[in-house]
Amino acid sequence: MNVKEIFDTMDYGPAPEDAGPAMDWLDTHNRKFGHFIDGAFTKPGKIFDTQNPARGEVLAKISQGTQKDVDAAVAAARKAQPKWAKLSGFERARYLYAIARALQKHSRLFAVLETLDNGKPIRESRDIDIPLAQRHFYHHAGFAQLMASELPDRAPLGVCGQVIPWNFPLLMLAWKIAPALAMGNTVVLKPAEYTPLTALLFAEICAKVGLPKGVVNIVTGDGATGERIVEADVDKVAFTGSTSVGRRIREATAGSGKSLTLELGGKSPYIVFDDADLDSAVEGLVDAIWFNQGQVCCAGSRLLVQEGIAETFYAKLKARMDGLRIGDPLDKCIDIGAIIDPVQLETISALVANNSDGEIYQAGPAPAGCFYPPTLITGLTTSAKLMQEEIFGPVLVSTTFRTPAEVVEVANNTRYGLAATVWTENINLALDIAPKLVSGIVWINATNLMDAAAGFGGVRESGFGREGGWEGLSSYTKPKKQIKAPAQVKPFTGDGASGSPIDRTAKLYIGGKQARPDGGYSQMIYGPKGHALGEVSLANRKDIRNAVEAAQGAKGWSKTTGHLRAQILYYVAENLAARQDEFAARLKNMTGKSGMAEVQASLEALFTFAAWADKYDGQVHGVPIRGVALAMKEPVGVIGALCDDAAPLLGFVKPMAAAIAMGNRAVMVASEPFPLAATDLMQVLETSDVLAGVVNILTGSHGELAPHLAAHNDVDAVWSISSTPLANQIETASTGNLKRTWITNEPSDADLLRAATEVKNIWVPYGE
Ligand code: NAI
Repeated sequence: MNVKEIFDTMDYGPAPEDAGPAMDWLDTHNRKFGHFIDGAFTKPGKIFDTQNPARGEVLAKISQGTQKDVDAAVAAARKAQPKWAKLSGFERARYLYAIARALQKHSRLFAVLETLDNGKPIRESRDIDIPLAQRHFYHHAGFAQLMASELPDRAPLGVCGQVIPWNFPLLMLAWKIAPALAMGNTVVLKPAEYTPLTALLFAEICAKVGLPKGVVNIVTGDGATGERIVEADVDKVAFTGSTSVGRRIREATAGSGKSLTLELGGKSPYIVFDDADLDSAVEGLVDAIWFNQGQVCCAGSRLLVQEGIAETFYAKLKARMDGLRIGDPLDKCIDIGAIIDPVQLETISALVANNSDGEIYQAGPAPAGCFYPPTLITGLTTSAKLMQEEIFGPVLVSTTFRTPAEVVEVANNTRYGLAATVWTENINLALDIAPKLVSGIVWINATNLMDAAAGFGGVRESGFGREGGWEGLSSYTKPKKQIKAPAQVKPFTGDGASGSPIDRTAKLYIGGKQARPDGGYSQMIYGPKGHALGEVSLANRKDIRNAVEAAQGAKGWSKTTGHLRAQILYYVAENLAARQDEFAARLKNMTGKSGMAEVQASLEALFTFAAWADKYDGQVHGVPIRGVALAMKEPVGVIGALCDDAAPLLGFVKPMAAAIAMGNRAVMVASEPFPLAATDLMQVLETSDVLAGVVNILTGSHGELAPHLAAHNDVDAVWSISSTPLANQIETASTGNLKRTWITNEPSDADLLRAATEVKNIWVPYGE
């Protein structure tokens, strides 16, 4: 082609990146790898191939991690952990800094190796994956440095088992390893079977910077190896991958006491209003759905366009799709690289081929091999399979909307809640919509922005926990003060006679009204000397359903101001104070211990959470782009809480106050042996302006009620502070909607506030 022809076509010539140094590195290992355990590579065991998906050629042979390998890695991590945790933050920071520097020094090698193994365009691995991974280590060096001064009450968890996917191999490794190490944990990490190479190169970097052996262990293998890590003697499991595997991991870890974070799939809406800068919104879409061939958990895969501009927008989009270059990922001019594996290509192809709804537009053609063309399917209904299912490929599905209210409905019509994008030139509209979207991240006039300073993670079936930012650190720490689980508190027994001429049975409290239990059963509560004190209702599954429905109906509470919620909590305290002697006497009758101190502590708890109601603010994260991330604290939704048995009033008031102060609605199950203080509280709540449905009170058996509460799909979180051991039941039953669960005892105010909120990061353009 001569210069004139080039000017005429403006076509790009090939600009291949040299794969030589990466191949040389593979050769230094004879293209065969063992695991990295206790600071050294093991001898390769049973092996499998890792391939270059763009060419189908084998890059290296990788070891399949056996039980023995996992045990050895966990043992090495366990041995190294106390010493690692004992280092000062400064010393750990220096290691993290050294890792970041080494990644930077070898960034070209990492980028090329990543592209070879994964098939993503070199432009992306070079400009996004590898620099972001470095940034993560730099940023977390800072967190290590600041841990002692800023998180003085937190301690490391111990050994973390980490299982990561293939779509961002090194970046996901950085997201997992950097916070774990910064907070004094050691790790056993398994890269995905398709993309183990950069993790192995990273292991070499760890050895080079002199990281103490056993602090980072890399075990390769497939899902079976992943399962072994999940089941091993680790203190935490951190997983990123598919929602189905996330569910299995939730089940496998239920009741084990292991801390768990899950970063799962998504079907993120990409909303374009009619006043948006359409050309920018089209460019944004290229990043949203064709970045990494759409194999991105937060991909903007569901395009929602305002009706009036839909045709214009689709025309612009199709023209842009035609300009995307598909092919050899090592070519610096390529936009769309290879799909990770023929299996994934087959999944994408089948999902599209089996769809007969809407209109399909494909750019291309895609080259032969593991490639799929950029695809747009318009005119789908919101319930269409492709609008609901994660495709995890370069396939964009779309529908139109008319009003802002409608687009919020459509955007939230998904079981996921990872990310959302909003394009409009109207700041009022953007900031009106952002809080209404059910998702962990919202990007305004931008998309797919990620940074170590801003938390990343979702709600609903997109999982729980955050990675990055201050909020990400809590997933790698626990309270320094560890309180042993209390022995189960048993009720007092008596002879069955009430001894009172007027029989009184405390009802349940549902939707602001006292309600008879559905089953019609009640139970006598006795004092320490066997005196009958009164009967309480025995709630059942139907009562839970009614209470959850009432709580769902009180959504307006979540939109009230912190100021209003504070006023109401103060008012509850005022009304409780007016009856403090009566409550103190009730506590004394039930437990035999003087009750006034507990009443006073309950009043103070109400004041404390009233104080926090309008002060537990979010943050504004400075991120190294033209923008800021507003880390907004939002209520979790409907929280079910099984209350502390030993402190019948305080153990009820504290979680209730924390939950409602932060804008949640609560289904509270009172202390099982001593429920009467909570039932007395109904009258206090009734006279304190607490909106109907915001607090619902059930009484009965914790063991019977917990699984129903945990299985209910309209409950967003279940807390157990009960003395009945319920972890297994609650965590197993929670897998349906992957709700947040929290099994604890004597929680601190800070822990309660953290559990009562979810951080949503809203990225807005800011500055020059
Ligand atoms: P996957 O969820 O099976 O794999 C992710 C990681 O989990 C890999 O390291 C794998 O070896 C490991 N793993 C698999 N089964 C396991 C088990 N039972 N216990 C512990 N670890 C296990 O994802 P896969 O099969 O590679 O991709 C399938 C679908 O998952 C994709 O089409 C996409 O929808 C979704 N996906 C989502 C990702 C995300 O970032 N949210 C990343 C990768 C896949």
